Amino acid sequence: MTDLSGKHIVLGLSGGIACYKAADFCRALIKAGATVQVVMTEAAGQFITPVTMQALSNRPVFTSQWDARDAAGVANSMAHINLTREADAIVIAPCSADFIAKLAHGAADDLLSLMCLARPLGTVPLLLAPAMNREMWAHPATQRNLAQVQADGATVFGVGKGFQACGETGDGRMLEPQELLEDLVAFFQPKLLAGHHVLVTAGPTYEAIDPVRGITNLSSGKMGFAIARAAHEAGAQVTLVAGPVSLPTPRGVTRLDVKSAQNMLAALAEPAQAATVFIACAAVADWRPTHAADQKIKKDGSGQTPQLQFTENPDILATVAQSPRAKSGALYCVGFAAESQDLLANAQAKRLRKGVPLLVGNIGPATFGQDDNALLLVDANGATELARAPKLVLARLLIAAVAERMRARA
Ligand code: CTP
Repeated sequence: MTDLSGKHIVLGLSGGIACYKAADFCRALIKAGATVQVVMTEAAGQFITPVTMQALSNRPVFTSQWDARDAAGVANSMAHINLTREADAIVIAPCSADFIAKLAHGAADDLLSLMCLARPLGTVPLLLAPAMNREMWAHPATQRNLAQVQADGATVFGVGKGFQACGETGDGRMLEPQELLEDLVAFFQPKLLAGHHVLVTAGPTYEAIDPVRGITNLSSGKMGFAIARAAHEAGAQVTLVAGPVSLPTPRGVTRLDVKSAQNMLAALAEPAQAATVFIACAAVADWRPTHAADQKIKKDGSGQTPQLQFTENPDILATVAQSPRAKSGALYCVGFAAESQDLLANAQAKRLRKGVPLLVGNIGPATFGQDDNALLLVDANGATELARAPKLVLARLLIAAVAERMRARA
């Protein structure tokens, strides 16, 4: 199973230089398991040929309402109706300022706009990836039209910021193909945590010995980042407090980078006041050197090794779980347990020790740095195994399990 398997996407291209990105986006959709039917305006054909899009989508491309074929090449004069009837979504990428204006007015003078107007409103969502010069984007007419198409039910993806093909710099670039894909995949996920604010910790912490050395662990942060992404996909506002890892931030997630356990605890203080769910996935170092040296510790040639002393770090999860908001039920806390053996017994004991309703056990050495994992969900009612799967798949299941338990408590 891939993220879009079974989904049929009608990919519409309107005229703009970002058409070159649409080729890559089409490939990304197909790699993610979707079938793709491309429809292009005449203006889009000035930037990229239908032959390119046909080769990438492996289907004939439609450009005219007077084209009398259907997708199988059979005579049919109702392309504007038939092309959308099996679609799970129409995605217009790039969506030009002119095309947004047409949508806002219900204009239907070419196949693509005709198709958008004739789509079944209740079952075929319309998603737009705007692409234009920054002045066009900022123009009140464009913003008015965007507000109108959203009021009419369309979903508008954001735009990128930066250098534009026209030589200017600002808002209005089309999102990159992988960003669009992530937003589209998120669009299809059930909104189980709409209205919630999820706070997630991820990655290792780093405890300094001196300015160039420190103690850390093998946590890659992948599980925590997958949970943050899954929570965002489920409609939540998400804050991710990340130890030192070099992973990209999931789309739509607010990220706070920290180093040490003490930094992590401090960074959580404010978001924990608004969060409704806290998921402590970070592999927090249990101890830190009591005194981090100001200067690099040098060998003095005597063969003597430095004498390090350690202080126990604050238990972040237990601290948050003891806060008044958590105790009153306003903040649902989920812990992780990285074990090397006796997963069930250790996870059950840790759940009680940390004072959390749900604890997620995993075998640390079998998962640190990997793209997949296996989880054991332990709560007051017993344990549920989530079999080995990619971390994003497990993260979505975990978010569903959290949502279900929160519903049951309400
Ligand atoms: N945790 C935390 N602060 C710490 C240590 C752990 O918030 N100082 C959290 C982790 O994020 C995780 C849970 O507590 O959600 C369990 O972490 P784990 O490393 O498995 O257990 P420890 O509490 O460190 O206990 P032990 O080392 O004895 O297994």
